Parts: sequence; C-alpha cells; structure tokens
Amino acid sequence: MKAIRGATTLECDSPKEVRAKVAELLDTVAEVNGLGREEIVCIMFSSTVDIRSLYPAKAAREAGFSHCALYSSLEPDIEGGLPLCVRVMLLVERDGAVKHVYLHGARSLRRDISRTLNIALDGPAGSGKSTVAKLIASKLDILSLDTGAMYRAAALKCIREGVDYAEKSQVERVLENIDLKVKYSGGRQLTMLDGEDVSDKIRTPQVSMLASYVSAYPSVRAKMVELQRRIAARVPCVLDGRDIGTNVLPDCPFKFFLTASPEIRAERRYREDKAKGSPQTYENILEEINERDRQDANRAVAPLKRADDATVIDTSHMSAEEVAQFICKKIQEKI
Ligand code: DC
Repeated sequence: MKAIRGATTLECDSPKEVRAKVAELLDTVAEVNGLGREEIVCIMFSSTVDIRSLYPAKAAREAGFSHCALYSSLEPDIEGGLPLCVRVMLLVERDGAVKHVYLHGARSLRRDISRTLNIALDGPAGSGKSTVAKLIASKLDILSLDTGAMYRAAALKCIREGVDYAEKSQVERVLENIDLKVKYSGGRQLTMLDGEDVSDKIRTPQVSMLASYVSAYPSVRAKMVELQRRIAARVPCVLDGRDIGTNVLPDCPFKFFLTASPEIRAERRYREDKAKGSPQTYENILEEINERDRQDANRAVAPLKRADDATVIDTSHMSAEEVAQFICKKIQEKI
C-alpha cells in the first residue's frame, strides 16, 4: 500500500469550479501514476475553510470515483498556507514508487512524505551525532548515514596500502578507484571496503586521526560527497558528519548542529571506549579530540562549520534521547 499526495487551487468557491478542479486533480494523479481505479482504496481530501460550496468528496463521486471510500475535512488556517486549496491523499494498492501531483500553484506542505526526507546533522567529534542520528532514524523509520565512516574507510585503505598520508598524490592514487559501499542490514549501516565489512575495523584511534587527515584532500571529499548525495537522493535518511548542511546538502530544510565542550565530549568517548575495553586514558582522548577539532575546523575545503540556517543544539547537559526528541519535534513543527 502506498500514499499518493496531491493538491490544487481553485479560482473561486463555486460548485462548478470544485467539480472541475477535483476531477482534474484525480485524473492527473491516475494518469501520471498509470493508476487503475481498482487500485485506489480510499481518497481523503482536506480543503481550506474558504471552500464551502461543495465537498471535494462529493465532487470526486460525481467524477466517477465512487467505488472507493471517500472522505473530506476542512483544515484550520495555516500561516502561509494557500487560499482556496484542496489537498488530497489517495491510498493505493501499490508497492513501487508513486508520483505526487501539485497543480495550479499548489505546493507540497508535507515535505517529509512528499519528497525524500533528509536531515543534516553536523558537529565535532564526540558531540553525539551518530548516537542521535540512529535514534532519529529509528523514530522516523528512515536510515542513518554515518558519513564519517566513509572517510574512515578511505583512511583504512591508505593504511592497508601503506601510503604516506602526507603525500597528496599517493593518497589520491590509492583512493581514485576505491571500492567503497554502504549497505544496510536490519537498519544498521555496514561500511564495505573492497567487498569486506570493515564497520568495526574503522573504529581505532589510528583510523580516527588519519580519517581527519585524508578528509582534507579535495579529491577525497569530492568522491565521498558524490556518494553521499546519491544515497540521500534515493533514500530518506539522516546524515551525520561535518559538512552535510554546508556542503553535501546545502538546500536541506532540516539542519542541526550539535555542540558540547571538548571535556564533555572526551568524557563521553572515554566512557564508551572503556565499556569496549579500550586502554585509552581520558587525557589522551581529550588531546585527540582537541587535535581533531583543530584539523577539521582549519582545513581549506569544507571545514567543520555550522550552516547559517542550522539549529544549534548544545548537548552538554542533554541525553541523546532528549536531543533526538528535540530534533524530531522541530522537524514536525516545520512540516
Ligand atoms: O565523525 P567521525 O569521527 O567518524 O569522522 C571521522 C573524520 O572524518 C573526522 O575527523 C572528519 C572527517 N569527516 C569529514 O571531514 N566530513 C564528514 N562529513 C564526516 C567526517
């Protein structure tokens, strides 16, 4: 079962105009989706309060869509909403992709379901991005794309090939034909390098530092950004990284930038690592975080920087669950 959205606007509130525009909207939805009437399970309309002359559901019945369940309601006024607007949602017996239809200047208000939902989540190392991204993904039933994992895989490739990471040409040569893929298994991201699942192998301090280093090379970034954009265009997902809002998806309507003091971030990493049996001290981790902040913020290409239109969230005294709830609430407010 799939939902198809659509909307249209009227020139005036008259039964004739309602009939004509509703019939046009439904016929267009059916036409662009190659939809047989028997595939339509139900049609639900909402119209703005300035349409009183005829219910859109009645107009639909008159237009021959009488075999399925029909429903109409009036919308409360929405700030910035269009006047004389009829919105529709059809539930159809389909599994494949569907096309939404907007006519006569009507536009999609529910951006979450009318087009691929992407959420940009940026911030420095240890700000809680990846934990929060996973929580958001599970709440919204979308995927989470950890873009740092891709730079980490590039770094692992350099280590395996024994290249001198300070030699740009060597790094570029090795990464030119990198076979890097992201797969999902049970909602979990698997980072595949040369066909091997390296999801755990990329989580070492050595890979962390080198990832920060190689991510400063423009050609490496170009490759990763292209892959990230391709994934984002295809699947609804929350992307966490350093430059998602500024560079990867500059037009993304949902941008968030997480911050926390270096000490709090180091403390979080220390606790996480200790639970995994890592021998690193708090002081080492704090030093590494400060060093990575410096590298990530000072590189020439796409440095770690908040997008002007991103919502900044200081997570120092918030749990990951609180941050995820706050972000989901902000997204709901916008759609
Ligand atoms: O988030 P992380 O620690 O897994 O990221 C590893 C490194 O990759 C980080 O130091 C900077 C780089 N990175 C980046 O430059 N751009 C991104 N979108 C994500 C990560």
